[in-house]
Amino acid sequence: MIGILDSGVGGMILARTIEMSLRAYPLLYLGDTAGGPYGSKSSEKIVRSAIKNTSLLIDNGARLILIACHCIASLATQTLRQQFSIPIVEVITPAVTEAARISRRGRIGIIGTPATINSGFYEKLLLEGDDSFKVFSKACPLLVPLVEEGWQNRRETKMILRRYLHSLRNHQLDSLILGCGHYGMIKNLIASRIGKKVQLVDPVEVTAVFLGNYLKEQGIILAGSHPPEQNRYYFTDITDSGQKIVDRIFDRHIDLRQI
Ligand code: DGL
Repeated sequence: MIGILDSGVGGMILARTIEMSLRAYPLLYLGDTAGGPYGSKSSEKIVRSAIKNTSLLIDNGARLILIACHCIASLATQTLRQQFSIPIVEVITPAVTEAARISRRGRIGIIGTPATINSGFYEKLLLEGDDSFKVFSKACPLLVPLVEEGWQNRRETKMILRRYLHSLRNHQLDSLILGCGHYGMIKNLIASRIGKKVQLVDPVEVTAVFLGNYLKEQGIILAGSHPPEQNRYYFTDITDSGQKIVDRIFDRHIDLRQI
């Protein structure tokens, strides 16, 4: 069973993609809505919560952990790999590989929450792959609350996004990584504001492919198809607005479970 670890609801976009692309694999999701959002939290808090929630996923049957949250991936992957013996896959490595592949002039932008951007993890991985890359990062603290408020199409959101992207637009990027689980919900807004010449790297798409290849390479191959309604979606706090976002992402009603 694949255990998906997230700070809240944003990772459900990845869960939905995996539910559709890797149909044979049962999913167990844990969104720490009571402890999140992580983007404004300290690294100590994020690492502590990640350890606790990974244990919960393993106790409930997970045999591989997929970290869907960029804050957890950037701050806690190493600790989780040291503390737990099961495979741990995360969203940042596939996104970095893809950005490196498509960026012809090596001018790469990253947007994310303050926790992710301040960790410098994306930049570190990119420069480890090729130290000639020019990496430009921008923390966008207001985007997660705006998305969670359902304000995707509001004028205010567009204005704030334009302001965040303004400095990046001067850097002649050839790619921009969407370094936060929520940004898939405003992908089109970001694309139209960053400009046509910049290719967006959506970690969700590349992580789903990466995970499929990883499972194959490891010989963890399941045949047939697991009924999606048997996948379990746990949250540390359940609210009406969280339920609405999840149902919108899945395009059907999902029974959220309290843990
Ligand atoms: N899950 C976080 C991420 O992907 C966004 C939400 C949060 O701040 O907790 O960066």
